[in-house]
Amino acid sequence: MSKVILITGASSGIGKALGDFLTIKGFKVYGTSRNSSNYINSNFILLDLDVQNSSSIDLCVEKITKIEGRVDVLINNAGVGITGPLEELPENEIENNFKTNLFGPINIIKKVLPVMRKNKQGLIINVTSVSACVGTPYRSIYSASKAALDLVSETLNMETKPFNINVVTIAPGEFATNIASRRYHALIKKDSVYFSSYSKALKLMNEHVDSGSDPKLIAKLVFKIINTNNPKKKYTVGSFLETVAPYLKLLLPQKLFEYIVMRSY
Ligand SMILES: NC(=O)c1ccc[n+]([C@@H]2O[C@H](COP(=O)([O-])OP(=O)(O)OC[C@H]3O[C@@H](n4cnc5c(N)ncnc54)[C@H](OP(=O)(O)O)[C@@H]3O)[C@@H](O)[C@H]2O)c1
Repeated sequence: MSKVILITGASSGIGKALGDFLTIKGFKVYGTSRNSSNYINSNFILLDLDVQNSSSIDLCVEKITKIEGRVDVLINNAGVGITGPLEELPENEIENNFKTNLFGPINIIKKVLPVMRKNKQGLIINVTSVSACVGTPYRSIYSASKAALDLVSETLNMETKPFNINVVTIAPGEFATNIASRRYHALIKKDSVYFSSYSKALKLMNEHVDSGSDPKLIAKLVFKIINTNNPKKKYTVGSFLETVAPYLKLLLPQKLFEYIVMRSY
């Protein structure tokens, strides 16, 4: 029997690459979008789901369990970016980011866990970011929401292990997707004290995404994780520098590491 996989945010970027790849590999894939009818040519089933709307989460998971009786793998991939000097980020945009990147995935997990427990097995993959462990200027809130999801995953894995449910995180570096064009970015104000450094950093951040790695790399990693009996708790994926950065942060003197990060931005 092929495994049933639920991928949130599968209309674009990493989620779409995951859905396409896992479908080719023979899994039963259910992806989600806030407007699934906009993607009628999808290679796999797309259902409506807004991670900020708990009744849409309920409807989506109930629909899948009614048809399949189970969800074997949940991939919490839907997420949005936010950039800007912390001082200038509007409160509602900070909240919006946490609602999508943290509270949404938590609510989906709460809905899917009883289904997995009933089937005595499950795998939850939460897509975080290298930014969850390496802070860079003007990404404070994105880093914070992803770091919180990382710790939620670490904790949850210990709670669900007795039920044969593994929780892992994948922390991607920069990947070529639509994230840069869709993320909220604080306006670059000419009279801002951050004007010069924020404009340069924003330009660099956008360029990094455009020249990022191919999302298929993540799809191949997910395929490997699904086929592993005893997965690692955390995976980092991206360029060589991105995958070693979390280790360098631990190894190098703090001031030297911060100097290197600031020089790069
Ligand atoms: N690209 C990178 O460099 C990178 C690096 C590290 C981590 N990530 C993480 O990877 C994940 C995927 O991002 P991506 O780069 O593939 O970006 P993307 O191309 O912009 O795709 C984002 C996906 O999330 C969905 N989404 C956004 N808000 C949603 C909401 N409220 N409810 C449900 N779905 C929502 C979108 O679907 P609809 O608009 O159709 O609803 C879309 O399918 C995110 O969690 C992101 O933080 C990306």
